[in-house]
Amino acid sequence: MYSPNTPSSLDANLPRHIAIVMDGNGRWAKARGLERLKGHYEGAEALKRTIQAAVELGIQYLTVYAFSTENWHRPEEEVKGLMVLLRHHLETGLDELIEKNIQLKFIGFYDRIEPDLKKSIDKAVNKTAHNTGLVLCIAFNYGARAEIVEAARQVSEKVKKGELILEDLNEKIFAEHFLTQGLPDPDLFIRTSGVYRLSNYLLWQMAYTEMIFLDTQWPDFKKEDLINAISEYQQRERRFGKISA
Ligand code: IPE
Ligand code: IPE
Ligand code: MG
Repeated sequence: MYSPNTPSSLDANLPRHIAIVMDGNGRWAKARGLERLKGHYEGAEALKRTIQAAVELGIQYLTVYAFSTENWHRPEEEVKGLMVLLRHHLETGLDELIEKNIQLKFIGFYDRIEPDLKKSIDKAVNKTAHNTGLVLCIAFNYGARAEIVEAARQVSEKVKKGELILEDLNEKIFAEHFLTQGLPDPDLFIRTSGVYRLSNYLLWQMAYTEMIFLDTQWPDFKKEDLINAISEYQQRERRFGKISA
């Protein structure tokens, strides 16, 4: 069990990259007799708290699942609301990202993103590109299966053009064609809301990621929950297929 931890006691063996599935916004709202969108608004506040906590704890990479390639199947009003919400926070939060030296990255497919939102994304990514603090990666219109197929398509194209010899293809080269190119694999995965699945998130990248599932709904997620998860992560032994030392 977790015993209250000062952040400094977490310092040794911090996960370099934390990947979160921010789940439970809808159920959080429903439990309070509110519209699902209200849950998403509160979820965005929880994300802001989490970003701040990650900065304070000295985490290097934080990737959050904000919209999956399957989330387009939700009611139009909810989808629209999520797009508006992202744009709002990109525009109102950009100065703070810059001030906190956060580098924003997007992993996702641009194909179905409206031009206005795309512009806000590009602006925020470009204006924070040289920041050297936390790398905050937003997975938006992201789907791991589509990412893997796209990588296979790009690799095939290179082989066809003679830019890559098929015999030279290996895991490292293949992974360079992912949306996550340049990011280390996540060390710690956290999913809130008592749901135990990956929902098409970072399937390749999480081959050896430590997983923690919490019952907390995402809008209730606090710095303390992040500290607890890191503390549990630090008690685990990662073997990567080897045997204990
Ligand atoms: C996660 O919360 C946010 C998104 C998927 C955009 P949900 O909206 O999935 O909330 P639940 O799972 O329905 O409670
Ligand atoms: C995964 O959550 C996607 C995000 C949190 C953005 P979902 O709520 O869409 O996943 P399922 O449908 O419960 O698997
Ligand atoms: Mg959900």
